[in-house]
Amino acid sequence: MKKRNRGVLIVLEGIDGSGKTTQARMLLDKLQKKEVEAVYLQEPSESKWGQEIKKKAAVKNSLSPEEELDLFLKDRKENVEKNIKPALKKNQVVILDRYYFSTMAYQGAKGIDLQLIRKKNEEIIVPPDLIFVLDINAQNGLRRLQNRKKDLLFERTDYLVKVRKIFQSFQGENFIHIDAQKDKENIHREILRVVVRYLTRLDFVEPE
Ligand code: TYD
Repeated sequence: MKKRNRGVLIVLEGIDGSGKTTQARMLLDKLQKKEVEAVYLQEPSESKWGQEIKKKAAVKNSLSPEEELDLFLKDRKENVEKNIKPALKKNQVVILDRYYFSTMAYQGAKGIDLQLIRKKNEEIIVPPDLIFVLDINAQNGLRRLQNRKKDLLFERTDYLVKVRKIFQSFQGENFIHIDAQKDKENIHREILRVVVRYLTRLDFVEPE
């Protein structure tokens, strides 16, 4: 029997190019192979707000930091209500690629007060169980993205240096900071170890 009647929310965070999406997919695949019911979700999401964010992000300076914050909050609220809560109610493990720590880091790096961002988010979110912060130097992160289409709004080295500092400042027992410079198999094993230990405690997976 499960020790509680909700699923588990696992968040991956990090600057652009930190590899969180790759790690989220590797983790999903592994958990599914262990027959854990796991789903992958992403923010910005597929909602109309998420689409507006992506469209506006392609045009430099089209949004003020406050407008960005507002859009990310609207997108998140919808994602929490429509996707995250229903999955958790079904006892699923949700692997979430970015959450409100991204808003604190990215919109915070544009000058919005961090505690204000936290407060506005904590009014609408479900608290996560584990938060992995993939840490990489801004230049190295950007170098990894060189071949990908870049959006003008978000991907600048000096900006990402500030974003990274905010990510690095998060402390607490459910934050796990990971050196994302290492190779992806090593990082995967490190994440998996923590996740399996956590899920075993909750009887989501059999002890190895
Ligand atoms: P994302 O889709 O994760 O980009 P990628 O897959 O290339 O890493 O996120 C797009 C951008 O949105 C990214 O640069 C970070 C930014 N962002 C914020 O500024 N605030 C937020 O709250 C979130 C969720 C993302």
